[in-house]
Amino acid sequence: MAKILITGGAGFIASHIQDAYLEKDHRVVVVDNLVTGNKKNLNSKSKFYRVDITSSEIREIIKKEKPDIINHHAAQIDVRKSVSDPVWDAKVNILGIINLLEGAKEAKVKKFIFASSGGAIYGDPEPDPSGRYGARALKIPTPETSPERPISPYGVGKLTSEKYLYYYNVQYGLEYVALRYANVYGPRQNSRGEAGVVAIFLDKLLAGETPIINGDGKQTRDYVYVGDVVKANVLALRAKTGVYNIGTGKETDVNQVAGKIVKAIGAKVKPKHGPGKPGEQKRSCIDWGLAKRILKWKPEIDVDQGIRETVAWFKHR
Ligand SMILES: NC(=O)c1ccc[n+]([C@@H]2O[C@H](COP(=O)([O-])OP(=O)(O)OC[C@H]3O[C@@H](n4cnc5c(N)ncnc54)[C@H](O)[C@@H]3O)[C@@H](O)[C@H]2O)c1
Repeated sequence: MAKILITGGAGFIASHIQDAYLEKDHRVVVVDNLVTGNKKNLNSKSKFYRVDITSSEIREIIKKEKPDIINHHAAQIDVRKSVSDPVWDAKVNILGIINLLEGAKEAKVKKFIFASSGGAIYGDPEPDPSGRYGARALKIPTPETSPERPISPYGVGKLTSEKYLYYYNVQYGLEYVALRYANVYGPRQNSRGEAGVVAIFLDKLLAGETPIINGDGKQTRDYVYVGDVVKANVLALRAKTGVYNIGTGKETDVNQVAGKIVKAIGAKVKPKHGPGKPGEQKRSCIDWGLAKRILKWKPEIDVDQGIRETVAWFKHR
């Protein structure tokens, strides 16, 4: 059994990973500054440190705890915030991972699992106007071999983090698995802020309000259920170094998602359309074939079932 230090373990995705690791009898240490995370998501079997990943204290904790593996999910997750304040975004998302990697190096951690982003790293599939990263449109679903063309500081930060992982692997032999998630949704997702359309719509509808769709609602995303993402993180414990897309390969637009949520709740409301968000990515959908071949992972919960399970959780929260 391994000792695993999870950053962001009081948050949406990583709190579920914490539970799955504990269920498999691993020892879990969670570090989180609770900026968006919630103590209620912590498992009583985890050891918890309320600490910032950019602080020097975190390196002391890694030295003291000596985990075999670090699973890194703490982040500034708001894409629009990364656009309005790229310095802040880079402080948390780039300097944060470097701080952890230095800690991992000092404590001789064996493996680093990283929550990367398939949506934000590839950028829009439209042809690149500069031609520098390929004049052709990206393939949909987009494979890992595609050129990366992030169009937000958040996406740049995730790609930069992967480059640092590569560097620490080559230089210091630190094994890593970067999981490039599609749009993750499910129980415990935070509806505050801008991320997580399923959680945001659900909260509005359950409060009897009308959700607002940005623009025409035809922007597509690849929605992957949190339970499937957790399974990828379990398989990553045994996997060799690599970068894998974790999505469903299916595109769903925002109008369809809103319709499915309204139906699952049994509401009579019709979502309204507001102004579009400038610079918002039009399409995003990733190819999970590599994860299937190498990790033996596959998405098992389709978007209809996933939304039903999420609705049930939000109702009984
Ligand atoms: N939700 C998605 O669709 C999605 C998609 C791709 C990648 N990701 C990545 O997955 C990870 C988890 O995202 P989530 O959706 O669960 O978000 P979340 O906000 O629920 O979780 C992030 C956690 O990190 C903590 N945190 C933030 N800054 C911190 C800091 N400086 N020091 C310590 N803790 C800090 C927060 O308190 C929170 O508990 C993030 O790295 C995110 O970029 C998420």
